[in-house]
Amino acid sequence: MIKYKQNIDFKNETTNLAIGVFTDDKHPLFNQLDEAVSNELSSMLGEKLVSTKFKDITPIYSLGSIKAKKIILVGLGKREEYSVAKQRQVIGKLAKEAEEDLVLIIDTFTSRDTTSAETSTTAAEALTLATYKVDSYKTEEPNAKTITFYIYSQTDVQLAIERGVIYAEATNHARQLYNEPGNKLTATILANKVANFARHHQLEYTIIEKEEMKQRNMGGIIGVNQGSTEPPKVIVVKYQGTADFDNVTAIIGKGVTFDTGGYCLKPRTGMLGMQGDMGGAASAFGAFEAAVRLHLPVNLLLVIPTTDNMVSADAIKPGDVLHMMSGKTVEVTNTDAEGRLILADAITLAKEAGASQIIDIATLTGAIIVALGSETTGTFTNNQEFFNQFRQAAELTDEDIWQMPLFPRDQEALRKSLVADLNNSPVGKPGAIMAAAFLKEFVEDTPWIHLDIAGTSEIKTNHDLGPKGATGVMVRTITKYLENQT
Ligand code: BES
Ligand code: MN
Ligand code: ZN
Repeated sequence: MIKYKQNIDFKNETTNLAIGVFTDDKHPLFNQLDEAVSNELSSMLGEKLVSTKFKDITPIYSLGSIKAKKIILVGLGKREEYSVAKQRQVIGKLAKEAEEDLVLIIDTFTSRDTTSAETSTTAAEALTLATYKVDSYKTEEPNAKTITFYIYSQTDVQLAIERGVIYAEATNHARQLYNEPGNKLTATILANKVANFARHHQLEYTIIEKEEMKQRNMGGIIGVNQGSTEPPKVIVVKYQGTADFDNVTAIIGKGVTFDTGGYCLKPRTGMLGMQGDMGGAASAFGAFEAAVRLHLPVNLLLVIPTTDNMVSADAIKPGDVLHMMSGKTVEVTNTDAEGRLILADAITLAKEAGASQIIDIATLTGAIIVALGSETTGTFTNNQEFFNQFRQAAELTDEDIWQMPLFPRDQEALRKSLVADLNNSPVGKPGAIMAAAFLKEFVEDTPWIHLDIAGTSEIKTNHDLGPKGATGVMVRTITKYLENQT
């Protein structure tokens, strides 16, 4: 829990205090606190008994000199080298190490070019992200104590804190969805969760059922769902933040609730973790949630095509031809390249519903992990100006992205099928690029950014901003992009 604290009296405050200290510069509030403890802080620093190295966190016992039991000295390193990204990291680490309630003297964590309000937003975000715990099905949960973090500032930062909390809570909601096992999060359950959100915020929404998909010739999602006993859904939610519903950004997320690979079956090692193949849907929903809760003056369409990818006598087979909603035909040479099939129909649907630009997000290819690893999201675009704005947002949120190429020859490579317009998985071609090029065939000229988060949707180790497992990657960046448009 995070609360704004307006006043503080260093002598009489009983909650532990966290103060940021640069190696080369002392904040006036540091001097005040130092005075309250008879200059013990400065003498300890002078004798190099405590470190001010970036991310070195040292609890110091106050031994009765003030009412708070401890002062947590947080090393910020050299002032010149400090940045927003570092604020997030160090406050994340502080939150993870905290065992008791804590007052952050936030003005001491600002850098030269960030205000107390901006730092409070960053801090609230970092604290909320860092303390996210996976809501699991363990029957014996260690009793998790909720810590209250007080953000103390000399200026009013109440609203700034709320913004940071929204960014992080939306990310944590995406993480939670991703971490849900495949049997606990079916397409129906996912659709219900999104519908509940829409109703709660009085937003217009539709859930397209299989019958309607048939009427609308959505052969991509129907094809992928064919081997399943779970009905497919396409969820569409509209958010109107300006007087007219124009300049509409569609946020489309891949919602494969479990990917076995279909008849082109994945081996056990590749299949494990495929409950997270709806990570794109989770992050799309998260960004949408944040935009709605922040009341951003933008217009959005959230589009989530969702199904699992299973095997049965009814499932699609290699070589089958699907008739997509756009009218194009696709030869399914690989049933494991299912994400692009459901996304293609979602893209056509979004265009029909009035999208002026499209951001799609998907755990789409293993190949992007080979190319960029698990800390960089692979990005593709057909509109450099759109992408450049998105990249600016990613720099602010410190989520790493890298632009991948799309050449005309990549489009050509998809058109080698003997029996259909397109092949969903050309052999011997670059995998992540082929997937993006396939989507582009349906996007056509609408400005578009594609985010392949197969590598970044999950992290294998605990980190400053959360536990291992789902990351909720790109929720903050998409939100920041939308916020910057206003
Ligand atoms: N969901 C997978 C991609 C994936 C792989 C996500 C690893 C997360 C971790 C996707 O549906 C898939 O199976 N892609 C295939 C495409 C191939 C058949 C062209 C892949 O990457 O192997
Ligand atoms: Mn697959
Ligand atoms: Zn998949």
